[in-house]
Amino acid sequence: MSEVAGRMATQQGAKYLEKSQGGSGVLLGGVPGTAPAKVTVIGGGVSGTQAALMAAGMGAQVTILDTNLERLRYLSEVMPKNVIQLHSNPSTLENTVHDADLVIGSVLIPGAKAPKLVTKAMLKNMRKGSVLVDIAIDQGGCFETSKPTTHKDPVFTKDGIVHYAVTNMPGAVPITSTVALTNATAKYTLQLANMGWKAACMANPGLALGVNMVEGKITNEAVAQAFNTNYVPLNTVLS
Ligand SMILES: NC(=O)c1ccc[n+]([C@@H]2O[C@H](COP(=O)([O-])OP(=O)(O)OC[C@H]3O[C@@H](n4cnc5c(N)ncnc54)[C@H](O)[C@@H]3O)[C@@H](O)[C@H]2O)c1
Repeated sequence: MSEVAGRMATQQGAKYLEKSQGGSGVLLGGVPGTAPAKVTVIGGGVSGTQAALMAAGMGAQVTILDTNLERLRYLSEVMPKNVIQLHSNPSTLENTVHDADLVIGSVLIPGAKAPKLVTKAMLKNMRKGSVLVDIAIDQGGCFETSKPTTHKDPVFTKDGIVHYAVTNMPGAVPITSTVALTNATAKYTLQLANMGWKAACMANPGLALGVNMVEGKITNEAVAQAFNTNYVPLNTVLS
């Protein structure tokens, strides 16, 4: 689903940059003789990588920020030349957000709320009509001014900046999303159906990692920390 949301983020961002949609009126790739749009992607994981690839393919000038140097090294090897990689810190964030036409937020700290990396104060330095797409809104959002929206009413404008923060982006493209999700999950579903959840989790550590709660006990350490409650290791529940 992150792959779908990442690709959609660029598509939606391009749409809301149009003047008639409340945006500044910039075409993502520009045309010969004009400057392309500047796109900043915060978080170079699954969704951020797909967002950056789409934006680069449309001819934008893309910057992707991440705190994970290994990930940045990988991205520098596989991304096209119109994507640059930057280490994410307050200074690089401030500079790249300030100058961007489109900012896509795609950070994740597993089990925790997303950090607020773009503050309300930073919006004041952006060009009016620039667009923020907060993919991480399902984890609370990584922009201070984000609030969850729906496909029926996907955007709002705050301090002159258009915000798109739909919590279930893949829901807009159910044909693609259903096939993609089934491709990724069918083998797990079959294992659960054939073996029952306990045996399936013992046989497949990948499934065990997905178990957050069993009979009221929280079996995911990060989730337990986020809710400030007791963590019960899954193996003690399984045995
Ligand atoms: N809105 C939707 O419909 C929708 C759909 C799918 C996923 N999501 C959400 O999108 C978010 C991203 O998911 P993902 O699968 O791409 O996660 P991911 O784990 O693949 O990538 C997250 C990246 O964020 C980076 N990161 C962490 N802190 C950072 C910081 N301070 N600055 C820059 N980068 C930082 C990590 O190093 C990692 O590379 C999650 O919150 C996920 O739940 C939303």
